Amino acid sequence: MAVSYKELGLVNTKEMFAKAVKGGYAIPAFNFNTMEQMQAIVMAAVETKSPVIMQVSKGARNYANATILRYMAQGAVEYAKELGCPNPQIVLHLDHGDSFELCKDCIDMGFSSVMIDGSSLPYEDNIALTKKVVDYAHQHDVTVEAELGVLAGVEDEVASEVSHYTKPEEVIDFATRTGCDSLAISIGTSHGAYKFKPEQCTRDPKTGKLVPPPLAFDVLHEIEKKLPGFPIVLHGSSSVPQDEVDTFNAYCGKLPDAVGIPEEQLREASKSAVCKINIDSDSRLAMTAAIRKYLAENPSHFDPRQYLKPARENMKKMYIHKIVNVLGSNDKL
Ligand code: G3H
Ligand code: 13P
Ligand code: ZN
Repeated sequence: MAVSYKELGLVNTKEMFAKAVKGGYAIPAFNFNTMEQMQAIVMAAVETKSPVIMQVSKGARNYANATILRYMAQGAVEYAKELGCPNPQIVLHLDHGDSFELCKDCIDMGFSSVMIDGSSLPYEDNIALTKKVVDYAHQHDVTVEAELGVLAGVEDEVASEVSHYTKPEEVIDFATRTGCDSLAISIGTSHGAYKFKPEQCTRDPKTGKLVPPPLAFDVLHEIEKKLPGFPIVLHGSSSVPQDEVDTFNAYCGKLPDAVGIPEEQLREASKSAVCKINIDSDSRLAMTAAIRKYLAENPSHFDPRQYLKPARENMKKMYIHKIVNVLGSNDKL
C-alpha cells in the first residue's frame, strides 16, 4: 500500500532549498547503506541543528533492501526526536534514479524527493524522462532533482571517461520544459576517491601531495545568471581527507594518490546557488579507516559492535565537520 512521506515525518526539499539559496549555505546530502551511517547522520544533524538529506542509491537498495532502508529513514525521524530535536528537517531522497519505475516505486513507498538522472541520455530524451517523473512526483508533493552535463568517473552503471560540463545555454530550456525542482550540474566534480588522474593535478612541492585543478566556477556563475535563485546540486563532492587516507594506508589499506575536492572550493560553492552537496566517499573512508585501525590494534576482538562503534564515531565527527566548517547548514532549525 502506498504511503506518503508526510505521514512519516519527512519533508521535501522545496522550503529547505529556498532558505539555503537565500542564506548562502548548502544542505548536506549524505548517502547511507547501514544502520551505523544512519545513526551517525542523525546524531550529527541533531547536534548541529542542521537540516539533512539522507539519500539512498539503487546500489544501496540492492544491498540493504528497499523496505528496510525506508523504515530506517522513518526511524531516523523518530531517533532525531528522541535525541531532543522536536522538528527534524529530514529528506529521504533517491540518489541517481535511472528509470521512471524506480522513481515511482520510491515515491509510493514514502520518499520525499527523487533524482532522475537522465544525464547520459540525448538532451531531448533526458527532458522527456525527467518531465514524466516530475509529473508523477508533483502529484504527490515530492520534489525532483534532474541532471544536465556528465560527471567524469562512474555514475552507478554509467561510466564516463571525460567530464562534459553543463552547458549554461541549455539550463533555462531544460528547467522550464521539465519543471524539475533542482538541477545537478557538472563543473569538474566526480564520484569516488579518485576524482582526478595524477596528470590532471600539480604536486605540492612541500608535501608531495597532488593538488587538483579548480572547479569551473565560471560555468556555475553563468548558470546562476541564467536561472537566478534556482537550486543547484553538486554531486561527487567528497574531499577525500588526507588524514583518513593516511590512517587507511597505515593499516594495510591501499589508496595511493587518492584525491578529492578541496574544502575551500566547496565552502565557496555553498555560498552560491549550490544548495545541496552530495557526500558518500568520505563516509566510506571514515568508516573503513576506523575499522582498519581498530582491528589492527585489537586483533583478538570479534564482536562487530567493538569496531563499528569507533567507525560510527568517526563518521559522526566527519559529518559534523562538513556541516559546520564546509556547508554552513548548522543552527538552521
Ligand atoms: O553517486 C554514487 C553514490 O556514491 C552511490 O554509490 O551506487 O555505490 O551506492 P553506490
Ligand atoms: P562522492 O563519491 O564524492 O562522495 O559523491 C557522492 C555522490 O555524488 C552521490 O550521489
Ligand atoms: Zn552522485
